[in-house]
Amino acid sequence: MTESVTYPLGATGDTAGTTDADQELLEGALAVALAVVDENMVTFGDRYPGDTTVNGRYELRPAAQVSGHDLPAGSNYEWTTSFWPGQLWLAWELTGRETYRDLGLRHVPRFTERLTEEIDLHTHDLGFLYTLACVTPDRLVGSPEGRTTALAAADHLLKRFLEPAGIVQAWGNLETSPEQRGRTIIDSLMNMPLLHWASEVTGDARYADAARRHVAQLRDRIIRDDDTTFHTFHWDTETGEPRFGSTQQGYRDDSCWARGQAWGIYGFALNHRWTEEPTFLDAAVRCADYFLDHLPADRVAYWDLVFSDGDDQPRDSSAAAIAACGLLELAGELERSPRGEVAEAERIARYRREAWAMVRSLATSYAGGGETGSNALLLHGVYDWRTDKGVDEGNLWGDYFYLEALTRLLRPDWTPYW
Ligand code: GLY
Repeated sequence: MTESVTYPLGATGDTAGTTDADQELLEGALAVALAVVDENMVTFGDRYPGDTTVNGRYELRPAAQVSGHDLPAGSNYEWTTSFWPGQLWLAWELTGRETYRDLGLRHVPRFTERLTEEIDLHTHDLGFLYTLACVTPDRLVGSPEGRTTALAAADHLLKRFLEPAGIVQAWGNLETSPEQRGRTIIDSLMNMPLLHWASEVTGDARYADAARRHVAQLRDRIIRDDDTTFHTFHWDTETGEPRFGSTQQGYRDDSCWARGQAWGIYGFALNHRWTEEPTFLDAAVRCADYFLDHLPADRVAYWDLVFSDGDDQPRDSSAAAIAACGLLELAGELERSPRGEVAEAERIARYRREAWAMVRSLATSYAGGGETGSNALLLHGVYDWRTDKGVDEGNLWGDYFYLEALTRLLRPDWTPYW
């Protein structure tokens, strides 16, 4: 373990999070973040911002032709739209203000419509989309429509589970996109909770069995021997044999895309919570230790972990926000598992300290709103450096996970949506 870290703002060690200064920092960061959410409620309401800001500002999601539909600006397509209602549900839980809950509920029919009209459903990201927009309102306030729609989304997702490989295909129409056949990606770990939830509410084990087998395949193939991860991995869907790893959004096929590693920390930890499979916990620990050992001094990752201090490359603030949530989840999982006994106490403390260090750094040096003039909660993310998409911009998932990280630190007993 690397213990010689210089923490931002000088806070160190196991006192992290217990000082008045830390609590004030969190409260201040939350006030700034909620002011941005309030502004965006007026601007976007039950429509959707773009995936990322453009020159620091979100605009309405562009009008587009998707799945044979002519969609007007602000429509519900692509994988990021649920992070907007996700922010509203967090804001509601943190404040109890009914306006957040009411607007969150107005998004449920937008997701029902997307499903019934079959708009942009050929993706594993149904988990990100329907967990936040439909499962969450059902769990928090009761939404029969949300529950029915989320179950239909889980059925769609289950169709992407391919035998004999035992994997959920990430992208592409299963019938008409042969180039995507058998390709998985590390982000998909975060989509598995929708399947686990579906088994829980229906009593039908098929969803959870598929999720468990898919995660086991990623555990065995997407993590390399040195604990870095591939962004994507390909299987032969006829024979079920593993083929090779590659990247879509990382710097190189053999580098370690920072957000992918962060999805690995959080995703394996969550799948451990749903399954109690100890090797998923081991996988999360491997991802976490590598991530932490390859951070720059301010603890906010460069967009690929091959880069560090001194490299002329952008950070990905969203990777830090995801990792902070993942480390807090992982610390909790370690604590309640047999591994959590004495030998792991130091590791658990380290994960909590590092999560705090990341959130402190994000809140003090990367937050939008206020004087920045941005309507993003978090600045300086990278969507896709290779295609110059959303580079050094805010993005919807970074905003959501930053608010989730603040929530986790302010409310240690908060129940995750995933
Ligand atoms: N799940 C897509 C991404 O992280 O960019």
